[in-house]
Amino acid sequence: MIPLAVPHLVGNEARYLQECIESTFVSSVGLFVDRFEGMAAEASGAVGAVATSAGTTGLHAALLAVGVGRDDLVVLPSLTFVASANAVAHCGADPWLFDVEPGRWTLDPALVAAELKTRCERRDSQLYHRPTNRRVAAVVPVHVVGHPADMDALVETARQYDLPVVADAAAALGSRYKGRRIAEMGADLSVVSFNGNKTVTAGGGGVVVGNDPAVLKLVRHLTTTARAGEDYLHDRVGYNYRMTNLQAAVGCAQLEQLETFVAAKRGIRARYDAAFTGVAGLTPFPQPADSDSECWFSGFTVDSPPLPDVAELRARLRAAQVDARPFWMPMHLQPPFAHAPRTAMPVSDGLWRRILTLPCSTGLSAADQDRVIAALREALA
Ligand SMILES: Cc1ncc(COP(=O)(O)O)c(C=O)c1O
Repeated sequence: MIPLAVPHLVGNEARYLQECIESTFVSSVGLFVDRFEGMAAEASGAVGAVATSAGTTGLHAALLAVGVGRDDLVVLPSLTFVASANAVAHCGADPWLFDVEPGRWTLDPALVAAELKTRCERRDSQLYHRPTNRRVAAVVPVHVVGHPADMDALVETARQYDLPVVADAAAALGSRYKGRRIAEMGADLSVVSFNGNKTVTAGGGGVVVGNDPAVLKLVRHLTTTARAGEDYLHDRVGYNYRMTNLQAAVGCAQLEQLETFVAAKRGIRARYDAAFTGVAGLTPFPQPADSDSECWFSGFTVDSPPLPDVAELRARLRAAQVDARPFWMPMHLQPPFAHAPRTAMPVSDGLWRRILTLPCSTGLSAADQDRVIAALREALA
């Protein structure tokens, strides 16, 4: 079976792990964690970075650091992986779910501007969602599968209402928006995942990047049990969300290969697009002119008819030993978020079931990609 997305461990991973073990610093303190944070800050164009145990825990800490609290609402696109919404819920808040732009699959800035204008009011210098009387505490754009959200428009609207912006950049470390890296796109904080299926992995892990040292200090404080000073004084409820030196050892070796891996991902995407150009009913993933996605995932949206539907295509591809997958079910259809306020969802509803993701491991060989292409041609017939 050609897998969907598996790690490509071809650099210094084993050597750094060995060094890490020999140093005995295998837990949350160690040289690799410090090095990892430096490398992540540099790769994202950030002033600083805080390494975390996962992308989800990084998102949770980032949301807390910008002031999200119990019973708040957080603007979030519905078309995302459940971790984005879970992180909001971990704060005791709820997502306010928004539809996405059809041309880029990310949070729709015009819709956000219109909803904030018509459904919210300012009271005591805070913004309240009138239908629920709940405070709106932050905007969380998601760079879906690496495609950057239209950040200039979103950040402008957020600033108008004094709302902080935390970008879920789980799979967007190598992406550019108008030539800018993730920490240069305007968010107060951005959060990357280093889960095993990401372009660069640490086995698991995350990083919060940003440009305000005071906010980053608070993220670090929250993720390290909120310990204040040498004695066991903890000045608030904190979290044990620190990345381990073992994870960071793998992460450093992977970050050394970021450019090569992103080039490989973009190459895979370009080959799929070229192979199926002009096939009626098959549309490549979005590629907005203002962005250069790291192309974490590759695939197509499928119109059925004239083509077989995604479930049928997946079954045919699996029979040909190709691991194709469906896409994330949007958050407004997920039971834990059934009560969350939401906009109408024509784009997300019309899109998610039609998305077919294809094998796109960083180390996918040209021969294996040819096999996938041949299998898809057959499956479409
Ligand atoms: C959009 C998005 N947000 C958040 C996460 C969570 O990251 P992690 O798995 O590292 O907790 C992921 C991971 O797949 C993701 O795709």
